[in-house]
Amino acid sequence: MTAPPETSPDPRTEQMKITVSKNGPYIVTGGVPLTTEEICVDDEGYCRSWKETKTYPLRQQYALCRCGHSKNRPFCDGTHAQIRFDGTEAGDREPFLEGAEITRGPSLTLADNKHLCIHAGFCHRAAGIWNLVKFSDSAARETAIEEACDCPTGRLVVYDNATGEAIGQDLEKSIAVIEDPDDGEYGPLWVRGGIPVISADGTPYEVRQRVTLCQCGRSKNRPFCDGSHTG
Ligand code: FES
Repeated sequence: MTAPPETSPDPRTEQMKITVSKNGPYIVTGGVPLTTEEICVDDEGYCRSWKETKTYPLRQQYALCRCGHSKNRPFCDGTHAQIRFDGTEAGDREPFLEGAEITRGPSLTLADNKHLCIHAGFCHRAAGIWNLVKFSDSAARETAIEEACDCPTGRLVVYDNATGEAIGQDLEKSIAVIEDPDDGEYGPLWVRGGIPVISADGTPYEVRQRVTLCQCGRSKNRPFCDGSHTG
């Protein structure tokens, strides 16, 4: 079993990256598509899918709020300087697989790094992904794959036992602002497709297909979301 791979280099997307600025916004470069998405819930109350609610005009470079106080959300309006935002990064740099618990089933293996959880809630449907990967029927396999792929944080990665390859590692490079306005909930940023995230001190974080970055300013795992925006 290997770490989820980076996507193969594509000249159209190679320049894309996100740089964390010291006590300031995320600087996004390379023309990364930006949308807003909401979680859709099924009749039984389970998180089931994503709905795109807004597409922003494509820009080569832009700054996204990291302090949670911009009046031009999701973009930075400079408020971080007025409120003296302390954006100190405490993000865990442990590689994904080193912190993951492994559950091996008949056709899938689940790697679960709990440290990344933000309680998005996609993993509880049916019997829950931890049980689903132990079942041998194809319906359970498909549901387990859906649940892993809908998890925005990348906490859950499923591997095909037949190939040893991680499934669902071919996302387009893009950023989605996760919002639930009915609950007054804003954030985090769902970064997809293996866009490099660079610390304010210049150190790159591990590149992963799915990453959630804090946009409320309250995470104790900055720059990553830790679910504090719901508290
Ligand atoms: S957006 Fe800040 S903790 Fe989730």
